[in-house]
Amino acid sequence: MKITITFDRIRGEEKSLALEARRAGCSAELVDGRALFFEATAKKSEQKFGDIVLQRCISYYRSLFLTRIMEHFGAYVINTSKVSEVCGNKLVSSMVLARAGVPTPKTYVALSSESVDEAAEALGYPVVLKPFVGSWGRMISIAKDNQTLDTIVELRESIPNPIEHMYYLQDFVERPPRDIRAIVAGDDIIATVYRNAAANEWRTNVARGATTTAFKPDKELKEIVLKAAHVVGGGILGVDVMESSEGYLVHEVNNTVEFKGAQAASKTKIAAKMIEYVIRSAKR
Ligand SMILES: Nc1ncnc2c1ncn2[C@@H]1O[C@H](COP(=O)(O)OP(=O)(O)O)[C@@H](O)[C@H]1O
Ligand SMILES: [Mg+2]
Repeated sequence: MKITITFDRIRGEEKSLALEARRAGCSAELVDGRALFFEATAKKSEQKFGDIVLQRCISYYRSLFLTRIMEHFGAYVINTSKVSEVCGNKLVSSMVLARAGVPTPKTYVALSSESVDEAAEALGYPVVLKPFVGSWGRMISIAKDNQTLDTIVELRESIPNPIEHMYYLQDFVERPPRDIRAIVAGDDIIATVYRNAAANEWRTNVARGATTTAFKPDKELKEIVLKAAHVVGGGILGVDVMESSEGYLVHEVNNTVEFKGAQAASKTKIAAKMIEYVIRSAKR
């Protein structure tokens, strides 16, 4: 079996995925998405993608476009472009999770700076502001009051990009200084770790210095995690969960899941488990 792993920056994770694919007896080709171009209107693609593709591009748009192109030319890609679209856009994710009954923080969207104050009032301070597309905790801020919100809005309005002029506002969830990252492949939870926030940092992203500790999920968490993964379309996913006073809340499902942090704390070989899932999917 030939597995293609597409990337736009090779990290240890992509190397270990290729290694595990070869260990499992497959041929694995690492393909740099940045080097690719396609005749979009052609009937067939010159490029061959093997039996299955594991999409690992970091850039949301590159990942989405490349997956969409490869699917168009008949490739089987994990995850699908549909999953990428849902997970890559925080607004769409929140709507999909809530609609399916997955507990998720209360979220508002304001479609311009004209309505953002009213939206924040309706939600109630403090509010968390997030970019619609983004990761690693980047550009996520807390507005404790209207003054802070106005400052953030002023800054955002000065950025000449229309997506910055709409606002995703979320309830600030009181939680311990950690969250949960669950890595899912199909119907299996491969690993669950706490991500403990770094000192002087409220965000619990590993990219923000969080450290990880493995733990065994309880039944309720398992159910919520698998449901969240399922409703966004399934595949290999990273489900982020907060422990609120009212129970678990899923705040994000990551499409191209990083697992360096989770691997540091887990005995399970995460890359090997991901590859097992890829092989199982290709055979189906
Ligand atoms: N509503 C919230 N209340 C409290 N903390 C939050 C909330 N939303 C996000 N966070 C913190 O910020 C981090 C990043 O948020 P997230 O939505 O996962 O975006 P990203 O895609 O950048 O990781 C989370 O892991 C969590 O620590
Ligand atoms: Mg996250």
